[in-house]
Amino acid sequence: MNGYTEEPYYIRSLNMTIKKICCIGAGYVGGPTCSVIAYKCPKIQVTVVDISKERIAQWNSDKLPIFEPGLEDIVKECRGRNLYFSADVDTGIREADLIIISVNTPTKMYGLGKGRAADLKYIEASARRIAEVSQKSKIVVEKSTVPVKAAESITNILKANVKPGVKYQVLSNPEFLAEGTAINDLLYPDRVLIGGEQSLEGHEAVEALSFVYQNWVPKEKIITMNTWSSELSKLAANAFLAQKISSINAMSAVCEATGADVNEVAHAIGTDSRIGNKFLKASVGFGGSCFQKDVLNLVYLCECLNLHEVAVYWQQVITINEYQRRRFSNRIIECLFNTVTNKKIAIFGFAFKKDTGDTRESAAIYISKYLMEEGANVRVYDPKVEKDQIILEMTHPNICEDKERVRELLTVSEDPYVAATGTHALVICTEWDEFVTLDYKKIYDSMLKPAFVFDGRLILNHQELIDIGFHVETIGKRLNRGSVYRPASST
Ligand code: UDX
Ligand code: ADP
Repeated sequence: MNGYTEEPYYIRSLNMTIKKICCIGAGYVGGPTCSVIAYKCPKIQVTVVDISKERIAQWNSDKLPIFEPGLEDIVKECRGRNLYFSADVDTGIREADLIIISVNTPTKMYGLGKGRAADLKYIEASARRIAEVSQKSKIVVEKSTVPVKAAESITNILKANVKPGVKYQVLSNPEFLAEGTAINDLLYPDRVLIGGEQSLEGHEAVEALSFVYQNWVPKEKIITMNTWSSELSKLAANAFLAQKISSINAMSAVCEATGADVNEVAHAIGTDSRIGNKFLKASVGFGGSCFQKDVLNLVYLCECLNLHEVAVYWQQVITINEYQRRRFSNRIIECLFNTVTNKKIAIFGFAFKKDTGDTRESAAIYISKYLMEEGANVRVYDPKVEKDQIILEMTHPNICEDKERVRELLTVSEDPYVAATGTHALVICTEWDEFVTLDYKKIYDSMLKPAFVFDGRLILNHQELIDIGFHVETIGKRLNRGSVYRPASST
């Protein structure tokens, strides 16, 4: 149902209605979010701008820069109608009534807060650009995940550089979309969070943004609050989700040591409605651009606030995640007779989860790195991730010290059967559906013997694999395989 905004909301304090929206940053968040806004609000003109001309060109082409189910159809319907992608950042900003800042906020890799704090340089650059080119009042929405009180910094930058007659209201409106289900999450959100200044002007701006969302989101799902609560809620939500995964992953280690089955434990505890059954899938460790970054950000915030015990508590979520990746890699090495030097290992899946081509912080990066450090020849196959992207991740200075060595040891394959041929082991790192239905008999026949499968996602039919002849190892479970070799350290 469109049309709630037949009469756009008049913002008295800024003397305007929202007719044009500009989104700064055409990434994983800005692109899908603004495509859905344009789709659901045909009367609003939405322009997504980016400093990367290449990224804008991709958004204007037939091959979008990101893969997200349902996105292409929406972009095709709206592009040129009320959705535009442009590299002219200044014009986009100048013409807009409402600006959504959706730039990247990676973990800082230098200076104060290195390795933990969020790097706000792109947010600051956006705020400065807005102040520089704006000739009329605007609502500025912080969509990127930021530390608490970032909205205050944006407000300060805008106020310090304000032009006569121009006013700003800064809102926090964090995004909760998950990759792979972004369009569904945007169309049917659990909630929309809007935080604003506790003043009449702040209240009006919150109402105006709420009005935009009400084009498709039921009013009772739109939660309004003060800016800091909104900023912290985003960090808290991601920290709780990441903690849930680290909790089940910690349990998976106990399961392997005791003979319990992590899937059974997850099912048993998940039926308790207070715990809930989501985010209880044990895995090789969580990845993605958000969880690690946001938990580290929270840890840093707590340290800055002198909340040492709280910081240590949340740091443990990351520690368990690193432990899980390392533990799984060690198990591979131990099972392969304590050495993988010159052994060929196929890595199935490089994306941080299925249905996305995104590789940021993917567990596969770390598993491949640990195995290559031991001298293994790694052959990667992923149905969606391009070869260049895999090489880029594996030769990143944070991951490798010797690029040449990586190029020597790493091969990327476009076919799972080719990737597996002649290998000693197969490692499942991403839970792609297609991995479940591969012809494992054919794969087994093409591999060196004994042929190993390490299922880091608990997706395969283990009994079937054992019957074929594979030695199977999986997260959170000891498999009953009679006399098959079992390393001393994992019993
Ligand atoms: C996450 C949040 O879900 C989303 O609300 C927020 O806006 C951004 O961060 P995303 O990173 O896209 O979204 O993916 P998500 O589905 O949360 O998965 C993150 C990682 O956790 C993936 O590597 C996934 O494989 C892993 N995971 C997830 C598990 O290992 N077990 C689970 O039960 C769930
Ligand atoms: P996210 O996952 O948060 O969306 P991405 O890295 O996918 O992060 O996208 C962020 C986008 O923001 C990038 O395309 C980057 O070029 C863009 N960007 C960063 N700084 C600016 C800026 N000052 N002006 C316009 N675009 C910017």
